[in-house]
Amino acid sequence: AEKKPLPVVIWIHGHECTGCDESFIRSGSPYASDVILSQVALEYDHLLSAASGEPFEAHLEETIQKYKGQYILAVEGAACTKDNGVYCMSGGHPFTHTLQRAAENAAAVIAYGTCAVSGGIQAANPNPTGSSGITNFTGKTPVVNVPGCPPIPEVMTGVIMHVALFGTVPPLDGEGRPKQFYGNRIHDTCYRRPFFDAGMFAESYDDEGSKAGWCLYKLGCRGPETYNSCGNMRWFQGMSYPIQSGAPCIGCSNAHFWDEGKMSERL
Ligand code: SF4
Ligand code: SF4
Ligand code: F3S
Repeated sequence: AEKKPLPVVIWIHGHECTGCDESFIRSGSPYASDVILSQVALEYDHLLSAASGEPFEAHLEETIQKYKGQYILAVEGAACTKDNGVYCMSGGHPFTHTLQRAAENAAAVIAYGTCAVSGGIQAANPNPTGSSGITNFTGKTPVVNVPGCPPIPEVMTGVIMHVALFGTVPPLDGEGRPKQFYGNRIHDTCYRRPFFDAGMFAESYDDEGSKAGWCLYKLGCRGPETYNSCGNMRWFQGMSYPIQSGAPCIGCSNAHFWDEGKMSERL
């Protein structure tokens, strides 16, 4: 039988730090290398592609034309909108132009990271570049929001594998996030929760409660209002997550991160 062609993926980077791609390549289940070498045809990626320069930009346009309405568009980074987007250029064009063109011809868009979902750190006050989430530029194409700064590696590979294998976006909640990964608050799955319930709180980072692993709520933990899988999936292939390393959750997957999560206001 003829081998089914792999789903084509275009992955573009806007106003961002590349941390989301750095997270993606650390996925252990499935391995990111298995995803990009065996499960999808990654035709264009600002970070992971070996090619660059004008032929590479021409290849983006060729891929959009050839696979119109069929490819998956992964977007990492915010849309930089002020002054017609000139503060974030990509291949000689404002990123917002590339985004709009690539999104309107895609089968589905995956917004990777809080920057792409809602502006994230790039949109932090006073937001001199007018950065925002990408959905003003994605037209009618369905968008899967995968927030987190960055998102958990296995969440990133899990979402793209769902879209690639089933040819459809996964079940989403009211904020466009996959229910499978964003259905619980950090607080719902936190292993320090018994201390919260018992009223045992660390009051400073070096007190006895902190050393004993008590709840970090009084140090500003945003776990009670943050939807993500850190408590059950953890990071680095299940090894740890912020709270386990002694730091409160700063709500990195929330819509108003960074301004409503930054440490400086809470220390
Ligand atoms: Fe970087 Fe965070 Fe934006 Fe991802 S969401 S690109 S990790 S700033
Ligand atoms: Fe909830 Fe944070 Fe306390 Fe965990 S450390 S129980 S998430 S408030
Ligand atoms: Fe982010 Fe909180 Fe998880 S800061 S990494 S959502 S524990």
